[in-house]
Amino acid sequence: MALLLFRLVRTQRVACPVATEELSLVLKTSQLSDRVLLRVVSSVASLLRYWAVRCLDLTEFSIHAQFLMTLLLHHDPLKIKLCAQHFQQLLVLIHEIQDKDLTQSFLRKAGGDLTSCSLGLGLDWEVLHYLLQQPSTQTITVDLRRNRISEKRIIDLLPFLDRILFKRPSPSLVLSAIRESYKTHSSHCIPSLLRSLDHVINLTCRQLDTADCAALLFTLQHSDGVKLKLLWTSIPTGGIESILFTLEKVSHLSLDRNLLLRFLHCCTASKAQQGAAAAADLLRTLQHRLDLSCSSSVELSEQERGEALCLTAGDCRAISTVLRHSSQDTQLDLRDCEVEDSGLDLLFPVLDRVRLSSSKALLLQLVSLVPVGSERDTVRRAESLCRALAGELDLSETRLDQRACGALALILELSEGLTELDLSHCQLTDRLLQMLIPHLHKAQVLDLSHNKITDALTDSLLQLVSINTSIHTVRVFSNSIVDRSPFLKDKRFETW
Ligand SMILES: *[C@@H]1O[C@H](CO)[C@@H](O)[C@H](O)[C@H]1NC(C)=O
Ligand SMILES: *[C@@H]1O[C@H](CO)[C@@H](O)[C@H](O)[C@H]1NC(C)=O
Repeated sequence: MALLLFRLVRTQRVACPVATEELSLVLKTSQLSDRVLLRVVSSVASLLRYWAVRCLDLTEFSIHAQFLMTLLLHHDPLKIKLCAQHFQQLLVLIHEIQDKDLTQSFLRKAGGDLTSCSLGLGLDWEVLHYLLQQPSTQTITVDLRRNRISEKRIIDLLPFLDRILFKRPSPSLVLSAIRESYKTHSSHCIPSLLRSLDHVINLTCRQLDTADCAALLFTLQHSDGVKLKLLWTSIPTGGIESILFTLEKVSHLSLDRNLLLRFLHCCTASKAQQGAAAAADLLRTLQHRLDLSCSSSVELSEQERGEALCLTAGDCRAISTVLRHSSQDTQLDLRDCEVEDSGLDLLFPVLDRVRLSSSKALLLQLVSLVPVGSERDTVRRAESLCRALAGELDLSETRLDQRACGALALILELSEGLTELDLSHCQLTDRLLQMLIPHLHKAQVLDLSHNKITDALTDSLLQLVSINTSIHTVRVFSNSIVDRSPFLKDKRFETW
């Protein structure tokens, strides 16, 4: 088809010029001789002189790299896509020929993207070095994920940082690079270093010593708006504080929960004004999210996963102190955390500034702690808790005893705007539910399913929907109610 098209175009029997984003050349048979293949390639090369094609896809055109030379000489801006194997062959060939124009044309046509071959396999240091030395403005992207790079290689690369983009650089590479620029005091290199790291300093799982911390600070001080990843990074004492006070240079900070606690404590230990600024910076860089759940450890530490973190009163005081400096709602994720009552008492005063995620057990504990001596404080606690839960109270599958039901009744009485109340699977008996019933009309969606409610409460339940017309669902199925017929009249009741 390529041969035929070229013939038609050449003899001007196809009148209109063709412009297309991508042209794919697909080889359906392996029977063609090299001579024919070569003719096909030169026909396509000629076609490209008549047609405007932005990208030539040769990933399904199995042909040895040496046949592709004609295409590399094509002038117009043209990207060529090759499968990994042929790309590597071509790379080797280009390096062997050592022709400046050909090399530059190759780099342009590949878009500088060398990520299909990995260093050490297919892409040698010599080849990379050769490509980087070309007088070209083409950025070269290399995938270093599967590579360990020696410090010596890093030093070799430093002069070329302007032109290189590392894809998924390993934390050890990042650490070597920042250590190297610190050692040589190359502050002028830092903007290009950060650009080649795509503005991410990923030090996940690295152990930093004092010198590494100094290198990190040096880098941060000469940067702006960088993303800093310190998940499971071990940082010496003193290091935390220095990083904390340099956070103004950081746009995003990622911390595992243990480091997060250390940063929070560090804010609290600092002098008032400095601490306030640090707390504000910390909250900003964490995107207003204090995540003390296990989610930050998902990929990393098998043994950490699912383990509860015990927060002491001191930890809660630190969280509370930092949250006092928040300018907007902060997400506080306490799933997988265990907290003593005295700790939760310290969190209540800042609950009105957070959106809370917690385990059911912790939620039940918070509910039980709402009633306190002073009525003013009780009202404040109830309101803050409802706000922190965004109006959705899910106590399903918890054991609600008399004390908990009393506290819950009080919360319902004191708060407005509850959208959902889930009390399914709570082993609620008629006697316990009776404590709650005067206030249950406040929820729009009420789930009472899978409890021990009997027919004795039918009238009270029916009354709920008449008090408040904004209730739209009451789930009462899987209880001990025998006569369902009274509920069938109202569609808002879900009885099975
Ligand atoms: C940071 O490094 C870790 C460990 O090598 C890796 O799993 C993670 O994907 C990296 N993150 C980014 C954003 O590069
Ligand atoms: C009815 O429920 C809505 C939504 O939860 C609540 O805002 C409102 O205060 C309730 N009305 C009465 C009369 O309790």
